Amino acid sequence: MSLKLFRKKAYVGVDLGTQSIKVCQIEPSGNRWAVTKHGEAKTPADSIKDGVVVDTMAVADALKHALKQAKISGTSAIIGVAGGSVIVRNVRIPRMPEATLRKSIRFEAGRYVPSSVEDSFIEFEILGDAPENQMDVLIVAAPREIVKSRVDACAKAGLEVEVVDIEAFAMYRALIETEFDSELAEQTIALVDIGATTTNVSVISKGVFAMTRSIPQAGNTLTSALQSYFKLDYEDAEKGKAQLDLTALLNTDGPVENPPLRVLQPHIDDLFREIRRSLNYYQSQQTDQGEAKPVTKIIVSGGGARMPGLAQYMSHKLDVAVTSAGVYDCSRFVESEHDQDDHGFELAVASGLALRSMSKVA
Ligand SMILES: Nc1ncnc2c1ncn2[C@@H]1O[C@H](COP(=O)(O)OP(=O)(O)OP(=O)(O)O)[C@@H](O)[C@H]1O
Ligand SMILES: [Mg+2]
Repeated sequence: MSLKLFRKKAYVGVDLGTQSIKVCQIEPSGNRWAVTKHGEAKTPADSIKDGVVVDTMAVADALKHALKQAKISGTSAIIGVAGGSVIVRNVRIPRMPEATLRKSIRFEAGRYVPSSVEDSFIEFEILGDAPENQMDVLIVAAPREIVKSRVDACAKAGLEVEVVDIEAFAMYRALIETEFDSELAEQTIALVDIGATTTNVSVISKGVFAMTRSIPQAGNTLTSALQSYFKLDYEDAEKGKAQLDLTALLNTDGPVENPPLRVLQPHIDDLFREIRRSLNYYQSQQTDQGEAKPVTKIIVSGGGARMPGLAQYMSHKLDVAVTSAGVYDCSRFVESEHDQDDHGFELAVASGLALRSMSKVA
């Protein structure tokens, strides 16, 4: 198969996060991938709410800025959606041909989609047969308002959206699926994206998504806690947070001595409890289906993964092995030449989106 066929168009992966907008382009480099261009711009305050772009012009301007910084001139984009109203569910339903399911998908999805199915984009993939004449189906639903508002913001920035993906799928693609000889692709793992306002937890078993859940607590929850306790402005609270090391919370019998850590600990523990609840929920679903596949590993990414000691403390609290990983930790990606210490945590989603156009040639 010729690579050139697919390289006529330069696709841009666009991650519209609530803290920052990330864009990137990927090119083949031998049998690996290289992030050849990437850029980032701060997301204007309150311009994206619950996944919906509420200030199109502000987001479009920031996006243009990120594209300019990255020297990206491509015009075709791949974007992602995530959040509480984006549904990814692996469900078991009576066996039927794909064409029949396509006709009844809105009815089937109605049970899992909290908002009106009429106002949602719904896609599905038949995963395979299950016992008792049933089959497993992956259902994905996203509110039209989220998708449309994001497509509009891209259009205003000169980008035509070719594909709308799920952020967690993109992250999995960049960190695990494309990895050479990945053992993780054969296991049941949890992928945790700690962003600014949302933490997304997905459970993936042998490459198949079982569920994703969105927790409205993330990096900003911690920054705000520091801000209000120490009466700091946002920038100083962010700086202070970045200097903390969560390994100080390990093996402490008495009270934690570091005051900022003492302020953050209940919030971090709370977030970890929610992650645990997601894993428990997955586990309970499994027992229903009679095939328990426990989560053996948690992979953490997103900007929140930068916090020193986070993986160790999470592992201590949840009693599961935890590793933080960014795009440059994936063996399929060539080393970033700019910064040896840069894992590319924030770029995981954008690069996974960009990869979507390339995966056909892998
Ligand atoms: N060194 C660090 N230590 C702790 N937190 C950090 C560090 N660097 C960045 N962060 C946090 O990462 C978060 C931003 O991550 P990211 O860019 O993944 O978010 P986003 O994609 O814009 O947001 P969301 O996915 O929630 O919409 C912020 O809360 C920021 O404080
Ligand atoms: Mg994000």
